[in-house]
Amino acid sequence: MKALVLNGPNLGRLGRRQPEIYGSTTYAELAQACVQWGSELGLEVEVRQTNHEGELLDWLNVAADEAVPVVLNAAAWTHYSYALYDACAQLVAPLVEVHISEPLQRPEEFRHTSVVTPHAVEVIAGHGIQGYRMALEVLARG
Ligand code: DQA
Repeated sequence: MKALVLNGPNLGRLGRRQPEIYGSTTYAELAQACVQWGSELGLEVEVRQTNHEGELLDWLNVAADEAVPVVLNAAAWTHYSYALYDACAQLVAPLVEVHISEPLQRPEEFRHTSVVTPHAVEVIAGHGIQGYRMALEVLARG
């Protein structure tokens, strides 16, 4: 079974970006780990990251057309993009929302809202990059 792991803005700088919050694993290492975890779980995983909202929307539209399950860390778009809300609403295969940190525990009020959560079968947050493995396990369980 195919699965997409989609990452939103600023996650390409993982490892260098606020390591006290997001850890020292780089994006390249995360991507490699997701492919590895996927293959252990019988999933053919493709990992992508973009800083361009329209690109993420295009990927989600194709995922809806092809009924591909998705692990999504939409980063800051999570908190305010109604276009993202609409794109997630169209998905037909399971969507798991992931965050490296726990947005609900962070001081910025804007992080306490998610447009993704209403469409997600599960939200995994605050487990660092291990959260991606947990999300892939949810998809593999079906
Ligand atoms: C994040 C949390 C978001 O609030 C933030 O905007 C991010 C990363 C996380 O993985 O913890 O960019 O999604």
